Amino acid sequence: MSEAPPLTSNRYRDAWCGQVLPDRVDSEVRVAGWVNRRRDHGGLIFIDLRDRTGVVQLVFHPETSGEAFELGHKLRAEDVLSVAGDVVRRSAETVNPELPTGEVELKVTAAELLADSETPPFQIEGYSGEVGEDARLRHRYLDLRRGQMREALMLRHRVTAAMREFLDGEGFVDVETPVLTRSTPEGARDFLVPSSQQQGSFYALPQSPQLFKQLLMVAGFERYYQVARCFRDEATRADRQAEFTQLDIEMSFVDGDDVIAANERLLAHVFDRVGGPKIELPMQRVCYDEAMGRFGTDRPDLRFGLELVDLGDALRGTEFKVFRSVLEGGGSIRGINAGRREMPRSELDGLISRAQELGAKGLVWAFREGEGWRSPTAKFLSEAELADLNQRLGAEEGDLLLLVADERKVTDAVLGQMRIDLAERFGLIDEDEDRLVWIVDWPLLDWNEGEKRWDAMHHPFTAPTGDFDPENPGAARAHAYDVVWNGQELGGGSIRIHSAEVQQQVFAALGIDAETAEARFGFLLEALRFGAPPHGGIAYGVDRIVQRLCGAETIRDVIAFPKTASGFDLLVGAPAPVEDLQLRDLGISVHKRKLAGH
Ligand code: AMO
Ligand code: AMP
Repeated sequence: MSEAPPLTSNRYRDAWCGQVLPDRVDSEVRVAGWVNRRRDHGGLIFIDLRDRTGVVQLVFHPETSGEAFELGHKLRAEDVLSVAGDVVRRSAETVNPELPTGEVELKVTAAELLADSETPPFQIEGYSGEVGEDARLRHRYLDLRRGQMREALMLRHRVTAAMREFLDGEGFVDVETPVLTRSTPEGARDFLVPSSQQQGSFYALPQSPQLFKQLLMVAGFERYYQVARCFRDEATRADRQAEFTQLDIEMSFVDGDDVIAANERLLAHVFDRVGGPKIELPMQRVCYDEAMGRFGTDRPDLRFGLELVDLGDALRGTEFKVFRSVLEGGGSIRGINAGRREMPRSELDGLISRAQELGAKGLVWAFREGEGWRSPTAKFLSEAELADLNQRLGAEEGDLLLLVADERKVTDAVLGQMRIDLAERFGLIDEDEDRLVWIVDWPLLDWNEGEKRWDAMHHPFTAPTGDFDPENPGAARAHAYDVVWNGQELGGGSIRIHSAEVQQQVFAALGIDAETAEARFGFLLEALRFGAPPHGGIAYGVDRIVQRLCGAETIRDVIAFPKTASGFDLLVGAPAPVEDLQLRDLGISVHKRKLAGH
């Protein structure tokens, strides 16, 4: 529990519940709060009174509590009261060691009911997680009364306070940027806000303050930060909300190493302030290609092995048609040595289904046996191939080997996820270990096979390293960096393009023609022509950092008023239909899309 805040006495109270400690014995105090729990014991009424700082036990006694005793009788859970009484020591056998105030209790002399409560839809005290999340979200103000939720939001407050403390100290300026703005291409769908002044025109809510922070660098602020709300109309997941919070940072006259160094100090400061893991500086860095190669993902969890191995070279001349056709098509064959395992056929079939669910066409499983394999696939492979595969996979007798053949993107995605599944299943993750790592040296662009075009790996404003060759865009590398904590991306950023000419070349490579670029980003291109300093920055997902720090299952548990997986705010009932009149003012008519089959 964090320290109790200062308190000025008034008619409701002169002490916090959590501060009624043995040093107050024989004094009188007045406290206020909610009825956490009520018990009747042979004529005595015991109430645990709760405020933000904790609980204290009240005793209503028929003789000494006077009129208050009547009230004590009527009290129910979550009623609100102000109580005066004498602090007394509890008898040895009634001391509650679980409670900071457990050595004392308050003998009530006067009490005032300030508000009564209906029976809450779920129990607040003694909550053990069995309440449905919908009920919690619908009555979030009750859910937030629970100690666990209060602690999470207090931690969140301390995290952002520590961030501000560090950045203020280093001369970063907190600047607010617009929420009603134009589309910012971070890769998700925009939330649009119709304008009544300009019917048919829309603001977009920012997916991040990216372009504004760059403009602030052009404006000469040099160091900027903001705890900024961002909006992305995308499916909600455990670590994703449509509306979330970034710590957004930008600096001028810096290169990537400067940004990384400042951010390592920031992370170390924040973790130190809030009791997070101790960070060894400088933090580990892993190149993007290495991360993809060894872990199949750009956000590797480094707490366990099970690394991916490239097996194409062992299978160049294979007769096994599944492998041969993939290699001939330019694909890759990759595998994992899952270690010495026993697994019945049904579970192996489960692994195949899992691989297929993740996008693979199939999965080869094998156990090393002698020089070869015990596997349905063994008969298709030569002795030499099996020996080579065993050697590349470091397979020892009895080791379970899993192979996927496909396009490299698929083998990485499938095995990268199966690596995590297997580590969880076999208990290979040390929950007490923390691995923070920078992923650096990214490709600038990413080939989008579906759309047959290049996409920006980070966003279109990320600077290429060296000269950008428009003839060979796929070869360009980026001055970009992500910070990853135990397999979760906490933040990412880059050095930006600060020349209008290079920015235009990159737009062109992304298939944004000059006219479109001018229409959408003309303001940026123009600003870059007025003396833009070299600059770069980063943004962190604040919700994710807090989620990790308190070990919550989802970021919803560290957001005061989050939305459900399907994007609903169950408390206020949003989104909601609006009056026809409102739509008419906006010049909008709604055509409901027909669902398939209707
Ligand atoms: P990016 O898109 O990587 O970068 O976002 C930065 C960080 O924000 C968090 N994040 C989210 N958190 C919760 N819900 C979401 N839907 C969500 N989307 C992103 C992640 C992520 O690492 N403008 C760039 C930053 C820059 O280049 O400076 C940007 O927004 O933790
Ligand atoms: P098939 O020839 O499709 O019957 O597949 C023979 C074996 O190879 C089965 O065990 C499949 O699961 C496996 N398999 C098929 N396609 C792939 C693939 N792309 N990668 C790995 N294994 C595969």
